[in-house]
Amino acid sequence: MTIRILTLSLTFLFSICGYSQAQIYLDNSQPIETRVKDALSRMTLEEKVKLTTAQSKFSSHGVPRLGIPEIWMSDGPHGVRMEILWDSWNHAKWTNDSCTAFPALTCLAATWDPSVSYLYGNAIGEEARYRRKDVLLGPGVNIYRTPLNGRNFEYMGEDPYLASKMVVPYIQGVQRNGVAACVKHFALNNQEKWRNHINVEVSDRALNEIYLPAFKAAVQEGKVWTIMGAYNQVRGEYACHNDLLLNKILKKDWGFDGTVISDWGGTHNTREAALNGLDIEMGTYTNGFTSNVSAAYDNYYLASPYLKMLKAGEIPLSNIDDKASRILRLIFRTAMAQNKPFGSLANDEHHSVARKVGEEGIVLLKNSAGLLPLNAAKYKKIVIVGENATRKLTEGGGSSELKVKKEVSPLEGISNKFGKAKITYTMGYASGDVAYDKVLPPKYNTDSLRTVAIKLAQEADLVIYVGGLNKNSQQDSEGDDRKSYELPFDQNQLISGLQQVNKNIVMVMLSGNAYEMPWLNKATTLIQAWYLGSESGNAIANILSGDVNPSGKLPFSFPVKLTDNSAHAFGEISYPGDSTNQYYKDDILVGYRWYDTKKIASQYPFGFGLSYSKFLYGKAKIDKTSIKDNDVLTVTVPVKNTSNIAGKEVIQLYIHDKKSSELRPEKELKAFQKVELLPGEEKIISFKIDKSSLKFYSDNKKQWVAEAGKFSALIGSSSRDIKSSLDFILE
Ligand code: GLC
Repeated sequence: MTIRILTLSLTFLFSICGYSQAQIYLDNSQPIETRVKDALSRMTLEEKVKLTTAQSKFSSHGVPRLGIPEIWMSDGPHGVRMEILWDSWNHAKWTNDSCTAFPALTCLAATWDPSVSYLYGNAIGEEARYRRKDVLLGPGVNIYRTPLNGRNFEYMGEDPYLASKMVVPYIQGVQRNGVAACVKHFALNNQEKWRNHINVEVSDRALNEIYLPAFKAAVQEGKVWTIMGAYNQVRGEYACHNDLLLNKILKKDWGFDGTVISDWGGTHNTREAALNGLDIEMGTYTNGFTSNVSAAYDNYYLASPYLKMLKAGEIPLSNIDDKASRILRLIFRTAMAQNKPFGSLANDEHHSVARKVGEEGIVLLKNSAGLLPLNAAKYKKIVIVGENATRKLTEGGGSSELKVKKEVSPLEGISNKFGKAKITYTMGYASGDVAYDKVLPPKYNTDSLRTVAIKLAQEADLVIYVGGLNKNSQQDSEGDDRKSYELPFDQNQLISGLQQVNKNIVMVMLSGNAYEMPWLNKATTLIQAWYLGSESGNAIANILSGDVNPSGKLPFSFPVKLTDNSAHAFGEISYPGDSTNQYYKDDILVGYRWYDTKKIASQYPFGFGLSYSKFLYGKAKIDKTSIKDNDVLTVTVPVKNTSNIAGKEVIQLYIHDKKSSELRPEKELKAFQKVELLPGEEKIISFKIDKSSLKFYSDNKKQWVAEAGKFSALIGSSSRDIKSSLDFILE
């Protein structure tokens, strides 16, 4: 009897304070869509509108009354950023938020190994989960169009197919931890100059063939839970509230059921933000990492102005119900997902993932004198020259900055590996300190630094040069672009000075962008080593010593000179634009699609990378010489390791369309495989080609089409080193 009275009184109690007994939205065993509907039915209009805006720099509202938690977000693509204060860009100076810095995404792309991308995503997802973040603001997949773009280091190169294949496992790895990935910046944010307003004009064809595929793969294959709108405008509408990009393409055509989050300060208009697909407005009245208007949250476009328009009936209530449903879905997938792992932070396991990504992504560009791998015993006096051998490169660069538990510098890594006794270090050149929006002059006199370095090089029997770019403003950094394609800080003069006094120089370049190489003819050894994060020095030392055999391939081309690049071939209106509009006149011919079609020699081509092993490609075979409709054609090629060192090779398949009604690039990457081969081992690599691999997006027909005719399947070790060409016909 008493139990019954108790139950009745509880039900009565629940009913008077608005809780029905069955709080379905709280029940984890219920399907998410059921929970979304139940939660929505309990929320007031004001509570729904609250969900669509920030409450602080990196969090958005929950529903306190119903026990629905806030959403906590954190940068960035390479590691979980240090805690930022509630309402300013300053660091909160917590003492428990030092993380693992994983290599920059250009390095991940350079691994050409989707399984490595999954390891990366899971490890960074575990760190975000441990730091109690619901959304990780990364990865970025904007296409590398010009070597001057300050943020190319955060992205996955110049080819949409490579970026599509590498972004999917990263997302799956992150999201298995109950943390949403946030693929950014959607779309056409391919430069930093004027990023907050420049209006990009691009053809439907280039949009669909080049700039959208990685985002489409993220949504349809990666099932990404959030997308970040870009700052720039696209065809006259801001990307953060853009009818074509968000309503038509993302949500309608691609079926995206997740949440669109604005870039910080990317929202400019209530009506458009409401009607053109934005779901959560973040960072309004800021420029993304320096300026700030405090306590402005109630004035956000989707805050009181939006509520007023909804109450006045100027915007239908269905509009807010769609936004609120998407945001509740995000909350149930993350903050309220009860069966998610607990994550971990900055442990050995994550550092070994960081090291592995670095080791798999470092690209050996030149080794003509066979100096590498280094047999340290041969050398008595080794001098290491270059500021990048000691500079912390996990700081700076903008929102992808990190506070790390450790960062093994190249100097430390190489000294640990080869023995401190024989190693001398000298800075050689100097850059200024990190400053986000101004270029600070170096504190040192570069002439004297250079003189000292050349003298030491003269007396050494081996020089290891560690240079490249860095995370300073107008280098590899958010907020502005590089001003020149040259190496900065007078490095070219230093390098040629070193070359005059010593012929044993190993060049190790750290950067997220290509750069001019006037000294290349005199260089015998060149390694492109990216920004490698916490394990930088160890990954580099393992490659230099041969403990790890380099297997990375370039995710973007190195043009000989800037004017060879597609974005710089059509005047200022094409890059950087006229400060209001910008026309992508290179259209679909971006990266190797441009250099190969225009027959312009690259310094180093897309997909290029050497190994300490030697790989022999045998005779490729094709199982059919014609296909139609749903046929699948198989191409096989034997690859043999003819050296005595185990190594990995990335075999690439490109398609060449011999004749088409609309211009097509000389070749397009359509498949690749990274395989390990033991000394003397041979493997038969096979690729499948079907009609979908042959399609292009017709600007005339506004759809993907495969035209009958002759094609060639090109098997290559890089986009320029084609080993076999196999002809076939599409009926
Ligand atoms: C920045 C960046 C974006 C970052 C966000 C939050 O301006 O454009 O990538 O995630 O604002 O820091």
